[in-house]
Amino acid sequence: MSFDVAQIRNDFPSLASGIAYFDGPGGSQVPKVVGEAISTAISQPSSNRGTVTLSELNAERCVIDYRNAVADLLNCDSSGVIYGRSWTQLTYDLSRNLAKSWGAGDEIIVSRLDHDSNIRPWIQAAEAKGATVKWAEFDRNTGELPVASVTDLLSSKTKFVAVTGAANSLGTRPDIQAIGSAVKSNGSLFLVDGVHLTPHALIDFKNSPFDFFGFSSYKILGPHCASLVSHPALLEEIKNDKLRPSTMKVPERFEFGTLPYEIMAGVTASIDYISQLDESGSGTRRQRIEISMKSLEKYEDELFEYLESELSALPGIKLYGHAQNRTPTLYFNFSNISGKKIYEFLATKKINAPAGNFYAYEVSLALGLGDEGAVRAGLAPYSTKDDVNRLVSALGDFLK
Ligand SMILES: Cc1ncc(COP(=O)(O)O)c(C=O)c1O
Repeated sequence: MSFDVAQIRNDFPSLASGIAYFDGPGGSQVPKVVGEAISTAISQPSSNRGTVTLSELNAERCVIDYRNAVADLLNCDSSGVIYGRSWTQLTYDLSRNLAKSWGAGDEIIVSRLDHDSNIRPWIQAAEAKGATVKWAEFDRNTGELPVASVTDLLSSKTKFVAVTGAANSLGTRPDIQAIGSAVKSNGSLFLVDGVHLTPHALIDFKNSPFDFFGFSSYKILGPHCASLVSHPALLEEIKNDKLRPSTMKVPERFEFGTLPYEIMAGVTASIDYISQLDESGSGTRRQRIEISMKSLEKYEDELFEYLESELSALPGIKLYGHAQNRTPTLYFNFSNISGKKIYEFLATKKINAPAGNFYAYEVSLALGLGDEGAVRAGLAPYSTKDDVNRLVSALGDFLK
């Protein structure tokens, strides 16, 4: 294994600011090569996709490269990769399409652990069709989402289940393999929100019981956009509204209008970069991604252990989320101190660790944190022990 964080940090222009970034769960910093790829793609001869002119071919290449890169990142079929502006846009679109076949008496399951973008679109689509919504509850003390909290809700009427791969507030990683297997045995569709999981873990879509999975590139060293992946045969079955002259082919049928070729080039560059996080990797891009993501997970887990033990020692701290399997993300506050005050104080020390509910709105309400939520500190590939020491020492100063 060769995960060289000092080397990695050199690749990120925004680290020159001296800011310690713990706001990766909200959006990561971006390596220089990604910006360069976007700049190159938007500056080269470019027009609408096609197969005749050089500019058409350049645009076509951006799309093909993007789908292949995402397919390597997630180990899925490149014809099942749908581009979207954001995960929220993708879940809204998909919810309307899936709900075309829902009706009174049908049931769907959502989890209270999720980001609202993986709750509200499904609820609103179900309500519009008279279908029933069932809630899988997380354990308020541990932050766990037990498998049974979802599978006990399954019935012959369950059409669809949406669960997060990892909670963007508490870091909990539910057992999505076990949940998905039960959902598939029940004959229901299973969607996993991988937005907070994908930056921290190796995903293997083809060998998972998922019908749909998605991630947002801006959380994983790329530009602001998202992807939804599925099985092409399943996508063929889904009806969606489209313009008359636009193609019937999948995945294009689900991507409205002209695609942002330069942003797609940025996604490709970010995935290429991820494949080189561990320099010892060789073989295909997928093989290098496997090695890099495993090395990253090990690096982040070790640093997270340090972060958690240091923060736990601070007087009066309340840490939320104690699930056994977690991403390197902490959600915390101090009694009678507004999270916003901590966030603002940290910012004066060039430490980014915002406070909020981060749209994990149901989690915040369930934990009694209201709208305000708590402070979140998450790790990213460029995080260091020095960053952690700065955070801990600044919090110590704040508490004095
Ligand atoms: C777990 C999770 N799901 C969904 C989203 C929403 O993603 P997007 O901004 O791409 O809509 C976020 C963003 O914070 C997230 O963390």
